Amino acid sequence: TDIEKGTYPHFMLKEIDEQPLVMRKIIQAYQNEDGNLEIDSDIKQAMGATDRIYIIACGTSYHAGLVGKQLIEKLAKIPVEVHLASEFGYNMPLLSAKPIFIFISQSGETADSRAVLVKVKEMGHCAITITNVPGSTLSREADYTMLLHAGPEIAVASTKAYTAQVAVLAILASDAGAATGAKAELDVVKELGIVASAMETLCNSKEEFEKIATEYLAVAFDCFFIGRSVDYYVGLEGALKLKEISYIQAEGFAGGELKHGTIALIERHTPVIALATQFGVNGAIRANVREVAARGASTCIISMKGLETEGDRFVLPAVHELLTPLVSVIPLQLISYYAALHRGCDVDKPRNLAKSVTVE
Ligand code: G6P
Repeated sequence: TDIEKGTYPHFMLKEIDEQPLVMRKIIQAYQNEDGNLEIDSDIKQAMGATDRIYIIACGTSYHAGLVGKQLIEKLAKIPVEVHLASEFGYNMPLLSAKPIFIFISQSGETADSRAVLVKVKEMGHCAITITNVPGSTLSREADYTMLLHAGPEIAVASTKAYTAQVAVLAILASDAGAATGAKAELDVVKELGIVASAMETLCNSKEEFEKIATEYLAVAFDCFFIGRSVDYYVGLEGALKLKEISYIQAEGFAGGELKHGTIALIERHTPVIALATQFGVNGAIRANVREVAARGASTCIISMKGLETEGDRFVLPAVHELLTPLVSVIPLQLISYYAALHRGCDVDKPRNLAKSVTVE
C-alpha cells in the first residue's frame, strides 16, 4: 500500500535504499557479547564435520548461492556445489560421504526448493535454511535456520534479500572457518560496516545510474553483462534483474567465454555492461571489453576504486575483495529500475512473475 511505500514511487526503489540499513541489522543480529559475528554453535559444528556443502536455490537466491560458494570455499575451505532446485530434484549429482545442504530462499516457500529439502531429509541429511521469513515452510522443515533480517520484501524483483543473503553467507563462511581451522581472513564486522557506507554512497548516486539506463537501454533490444570470477556471478544477477522488470533480453557471460560463441551476437550499439572489481582478472576483463568494443558494442565499465582506468563509467567505493558483490550489484539494480521505469513497465509487478512460486 501507499503508506508502506512512504514517499517512494515503488517498493523496489525503497528496498534498494534499505540495503545499508539491512547490513547494519545483520551485523547486530549476529554479533555476540564480544562484538564478534557468530553463528549458532550447532550449525558451526555441522560445518566443521561436513566434507561438501550443497547449496540449493532458485532465481536471485541461486545467484547469491554462487557468491556464497566462493565465500565458503575461500574462508572455510570446504568444497561447495551450487544447484538450481528445479534441476537437482530430478537429476541429483553423486553426493559426497558427509554432505550438508544449504537452502537459500527469501520467502522460504519456493516449491522447487522444498521438493529437494523433503528428499534430502528423507535421505537423512542435515539441512540449513537461509531465509527472510521466520516460521516459513523451508525454515520449519530444515534442521537449522539463519535469518536474513532484511524486513519484508514486496517488489517481485529481489534486491535487499540478495545482499542480505550474501552478507549472511559471509558470516557463515567466516565463522565456519573457525570450525574447520581455516585462517581468519576477514574481519566481518569491520568489512560489512565499510560495505554499508559504500552502499549509501551508491544509493546517493542514483542520477548516475539513471543516466546510464537512459543512455544505454532506452531503446535497446538486448544487453550483455560480462565479468570474470565473482563479477560473472553478479552479472548473472544484473541480467536477471533487467529481464524481470524491463523485459529487455539480457544475459550474463563469463568474459573469457565470449569468444567461444557469444561474441557473434555483438553488433553496433549492443550494450555491454562490464564489472571490474577483482584484481586478479582486471587486465583480462578489460581485454574482453576491448574485444566487444572493437565489434561496435556500447561498453560501460563499472570498476572498483584502486582498479579504475580512464574511461570507466562508474568507480565503486573500495570494499574487501570478497565482498564486492554487495556493492557492485547496486548499480545493476538501479540501472534495471530506471530502464524499466523509462520504458513504462510495471516495476513492482512485472508480467508473468510471482513473488513466491509455491507450485512446481
Ligand atoms: C521467484 C521470484 C524471484 C526469486 C525466486 C526464488 O521466481 O520472482 O525473485 O528469486 O522466486 O525465491 P525465493 O523466495 O526462494 O528466494
